[in-house]
Amino acid sequence: MILSIESSCDDSSIAITKIDTLELIYHKKISQEIDHSVYGGVVPELAARLHAEALPKILEECKEYFKELKAIAVTNAPGLSVTLTEGVMMAKALSVSLKLPIIAVNHLKGHIYSCFIEKKALLPMTVLLVSGGHTQIIEVKSLEEMQIVGQTSDDSFGESFDKVAKMLHLGYPGGPIVQESGQKGSDTAYDFPIPLRQSPNIEFSFSGLKNAVRMAILEEEKQNNLDEQKIANICASFEKTAVAHILMKLKKYFKMKPPQRFAIVGGASANIRLRGECENLCKQYDCEVILAPLQYCSDNAAMIGRVAVEQYLNDDFTHFDLLDVHSRIH
Ligand code: KG4
Ligand code: ZN
Repeated sequence: MILSIESSCDDSSIAITKIDTLELIYHKKISQEIDHSVYGGVVPELAARLHAEALPKILEECKEYFKELKAIAVTNAPGLSVTLTEGVMMAKALSVSLKLPIIAVNHLKGHIYSCFIEKKALLPMTVLLVSGGHTQIIEVKSLEEMQIVGQTSDDSFGESFDKVAKMLHLGYPGGPIVQESGQKGSDTAYDFPIPLRQSPNIEFSFSGLKNAVRMAILEEEKQNNLDEQKIANICASFEKTAVAHILMKLKKYFKMKPPQRFAIVGGASANIRLRGECENLCKQYDCEVILAPLQYCSDNAAMIGRVAVEQYLNDDFTHFDLLDVHSRIH
C-alpha cells in the first residue's frame, strides 16, 4: 500500500491505495473553504496553519495500515509553497520513522489521474484541466509524456469564478456559488464579450471578461440596482461567456486534431454547463468522454495516490535530501 498526502492549497487530505489492485483503502479530506471564505480567497499562512492541525488528525486514523506501507507519496508541486511544505514535512517524517521511500507527485498529474481512481489508465487522451490555478489543454500519452497544447495567459477558469464571487461579495470558492446563483438568473441579461474570439491560437484569457463583469457590477451599484436577481443574471451571463470561451477554443482544437478520448479534470470541471457542453462536443466527434467523478474533481489525496502507484511501479522515487517544494510546474 502507498500512503499519499495532499496539501497544495486549501484541502488537507490523506489516502491509502493498494498497489496491486488500485483499491482505495482509506481516503479523508478536511477542506478549509469556510475558513478562507471571509477573505474571498485562500490566505496562504492561514492555510499552512490549518494543514498543520488537520494532517496529523487524519494520519492518526491511518496508523493501523502503517505495517503494510511500501512508500509515502506527497504532492510537491505546483501549489502554495507554505502549504506544500506542510505535506512534505509530514512525508519526510514518515519516511524516516517507517523507513520507507518517498514518491514526489506533481499535483496536475494527480488531477489527470483523478479519472482513473480504482481503475486502469486509458491512454492516450486529451485533457482539459480546469482548476483554481490552471486552465490547460494537455495531450497525455503516458504519465511521463504529456504536452500542454494550450493554456491561459492570465487568470484561470476557476479563479475567474472566485473573483466574480468576490466582487459580488458571495464568498469563496466562487465556482459552486456563482453556478448556483446563475441557475436563478438569465444568461442573456448581460452581453459580456467572449475572450480571444478573433485569435486563431489555442489559448485562454479570463482577465478581460473579469473586468467586463466588474464594470457591469459598478454600473448596477451606481444606480443602486444590484439586487439578488441582478446578481443571478450577472452570474449566469458570466458563466455562459466563460464556458463559451473554453468551448470555442476546444472546437478549434477538435477540428485540427480530433481526439479519440477526451477528459475534463480539476476542481472547476464540476461545472455543470462546462461538462454538458464538452459532452455534446465529444458526441459530435464520436470521441469517448471521461469525466472525473465529482468527489475527485477538487483537490484530494486519492488522485495523488493513484499517480504514486504508477511511479512506484516505475521505480520513480525521490531521495529524501532532494525532496523540495515547487510553486510552479516542473
Ligand atoms: O482543483 P481545485 O480543487 O484546486 C486547485 O488545484 O486550484 O479547484 C478549485 C477551483 C476553485 O477556483 C473553484 O472556484 C473552482 O475550482 N470550482 C468551480 C466549480 N466548482 C469548483 N468553478 C466553476 N464551476 C464550478 N461548479
Ligand atoms: Zn488542484
